[in-house]
Amino acid sequence: MQHISVVGSGTMGNGIAHAFAQYGFDVALIDTQPSALEKAIATIGNNLDRQIKKEILSEADKTGILARIATYTDLARGVGKADLVVEAATENESIKLGIFEELDRLCPKHTLLASNTSSISITKIASVTHRADRVIGMHFMNPVPVMKLVEVIKGYATSVETTNTILSLSKRLDKVPVEVNDYPGFVSNRILMPLINEAIYALYEGVADAEAIDTVMKLGMAHPMGPLQLADFIGLDVCLSILRVLHTGFGNPKYAPCPLLVNMVAAGKLGKKTGSGFYTY
Ligand SMILES: NC(=O)c1ccc[n+]([C@@H]2O[C@H](COP(=O)([O-])OP(=O)(O)OC[C@H]3O[C@@H](n4cnc5c(N)ncnc54)[C@H](O)[C@@H]3O)[C@@H](O)[C@H]2O)c1
Repeated sequence: MQHISVVGSGTMGNGIAHAFAQYGFDVALIDTQPSALEKAIATIGNNLDRQIKKEILSEADKTGILARIATYTDLARGVGKADLVVEAATENESIKLGIFEELDRLCPKHTLLASNTSSISITKIASVTHRADRVIGMHFMNPVPVMKLVEVIKGYATSVETTNTILSLSKRLDKVPVEVNDYPGFVSNRILMPLINEAIYALYEGVADAEAIDTVMKLGMAHPMGPLQLADFIGLDVCLSILRVLHTGFGNPKYAPCPLLVNMVAAGKLGKKTGSGFYTY
């Protein structure tokens, strides 16, 4: 494992590229949008500066890390040498299935294919390839260079060898991998999203205002951030789409998204990225 290709250079893609390059891997960062690649390199530079300020890295480390990241808009060129591809493109099933079909065609036979999806079935993604045994979920958390967890999701056909390779690779990035099976929301979002949804219900029913709900969870349960603020940071559209995956996947009404969340998304109040959600930014 030396050549890592990362498909999608948004919030997660730039963090994943940063983490691999920091630990000595050669990274090909791929996006369809040249502007996204430019923004990603600038973000990685700023985040490296933050690590220098905290004395985690030196200026020389920064130069080396940036030199290990090459950018591509052409998928074929970007994955030609890949030992592992980590897909971190937009959370949309048809986009991801299209990417994996192409990856299967373009990548060398030995290449492992991982997805950073928050909710889409790894088994379904693997089914559009001819290498389902070498397809796996590698779910990093935001911000990737800081957060320790990698949720490693085994699809129905993922081999033990692939799983073990990804577990040990995650440790080489100084992360803590946790192995889970492929069911809707995996573990992280299956537990987090109902918590967020319940907090939204408490607001919707007038139990308390947003700040009070978040304060109860921060000071009472030692959460670093309240669930409503966290929802704003994740994006309310993303929360809604994950809840829909849980609701459809399990067919259980307990996962039905709160009508207030549905309304806020329809109104374009998506949280931090649009300047307003449960709070104003
Ligand atoms: N944001 C989070 O907190 C978070 C956390 C964990 C997992 N995830 C998952 O990570 C993935 C990426 O999320 P994000 O927040 O970084 O999204 P984002 O919107 O910030 O970035 C997605 C990038 O993918 C690019 N893209 C779209 N189609 C592409 C294609 N065919 N080929 C190459 N690039 C393409 C877009 O141009 C964009 O730059 C999603 O699956 C998401 O569910 C997100």
